[in-house]
Amino acid sequence: MSTTSFPDGFLWGGATAANQIEGGYDQGGKGLSVQDVMPRGIFGPRTAAPTPDNLKLEAIDFYHRYADDIALFAEMGFGVYRFSIAWSRIFPNGDDTEPNEEGLAFYDRVLDELEKHGIEPLVTISHYETPLHLAETYDGWTDRRLIGFYERYARTLFERYGARVKYWLTFNEINSLLHAPFMSGGINTPKDELGEQALYQAMHHELVASARATRIAREVAPNAQIGCMVLSMPVYPLSPSPADALEVLQFDHSNLVYGDVHTRGEYPGYFLRTLREKGIELEITDEDREDLTNTVDFVSFSYYMSVAATADPAKKVTGEGNIMGGVPNPTLEASEWGWQIDPIGLRLVINQFWDRWQKPLFVVENGLGAKDQLVEVDGVKTVLDDYRIAYLNDHLVQVGEAIEDGATVLGYTSWGCIDVVSASSAQLSKRYGFIYVDRNDDGTGSLERYKKKSFDWYAEVIRTNGASLTR
Ligand code: BG6
Repeated sequence: MSTTSFPDGFLWGGATAANQIEGGYDQGGKGLSVQDVMPRGIFGPRTAAPTPDNLKLEAIDFYHRYADDIALFAEMGFGVYRFSIAWSRIFPNGDDTEPNEEGLAFYDRVLDELEKHGIEPLVTISHYETPLHLAETYDGWTDRRLIGFYERYARTLFERYGARVKYWLTFNEINSLLHAPFMSGGINTPKDELGEQALYQAMHHELVASARATRIAREVAPNAQIGCMVLSMPVYPLSPSPADALEVLQFDHSNLVYGDVHTRGEYPGYFLRTLREKGIELEITDEDREDLTNTVDFVSFSYYMSVAATADPAKKVTGEGNIMGGVPNPTLEASEWGWQIDPIGLRLVINQFWDRWQKPLFVVENGLGAKDQLVEVDGVKTVLDDYRIAYLNDHLVQVGEAIEDGATVLGYTSWGCIDVVSASSAQLSKRYGFIYVDRNDDGTGSLERYKKKSFDWYAEVIRTNGASLTR
């Protein structure tokens, strides 16, 4: 009998995003992205121009150190590495007609290194790094013209890398748009001044752009597998009351609509009702409808935490959480940043997505953001991150359970496999990695890399295809 639930060929690896690791924000012909003016993270104020306190400008200097970092991933036995391409490295303004060759060549070199080590790339086309010019000139995805700019960008990537990259994701956490419009959608108008009409229209534009990218990939990169990417957030009723269960359904619908459109090719009835009730009339052309029928090959998602929902106005408080937050669940513990830890929620979400969409799934983000202490053991600097090992172990056990339940899961890429700048808080001290990067929140540090205890632990999980996990 097999000692592991993970099938042969299961893709083990890690994930990052360009804006959180690369640095080199003004090198190689790169233009500015929205992240270059977000020194305080998602909900902090933006600045008029890049400021030295923005850790993402240098990040962890992957732009210069990618070969050494990829060698460390290979040492852990990664079969896959998820990274994003910075749109503003390829099209510095976003609306340029010709791509920046220096930017394209950079990712050629990254792919060379991955090939050298036999690591499969998994590329996110747009991960919270819309070119700033598109935000300032067009108000980001509220403008229909963004579809055309994104189309040109995606086509350029498929033509250049289509023969080397099999797995692609169109938009990171596409369902975060309504919650974080500047970061997720390059929408410059402040959130409190934005009408829902504009926000939902932006959502429609992204969905059309995503489907159009899928159509283009079919033409120019026939071996490509295209996935959507959603932020998953399982939700429990705070009490057994039917009213709370209805809240759960509605919270779920507000997130599931993205996967529904990506897998079914049209808007579901519950979403049309939401629009009707809000008095929103989306501009949807015949071409849009046709585009949307280009459905994805697989569904990928991030998973960090779950929330609860209640119909009781007195209990409707919003706790901390990954972008959207929710009502805290009294049965769960939380991380140092208040994200509630729930391994079983991952099994639930995999089952829900599999039952609903019957598409292969890919867990492309999961992990624990924690404050690490660099210590010396036998003269070697390391971090004794047993808390991270426990978190990852317990979540991976649940991935195995979901596979036993019958779901097809292609792989698992743990978030921030090397320490990265946090998206929400813009800190480096919120660390996720197996590899510690010596850089502090004030920007000091040598940028040296050190293996944490979890480095060897994950290498063993990969080597044994999950058999070494503690159940
Ligand atoms: C996801 C994003 O929301 O969560 C990542 O796709 C992000 O970009 C990750 O880094 C973890 O969130 P945070 O806020 O802890 O960095």
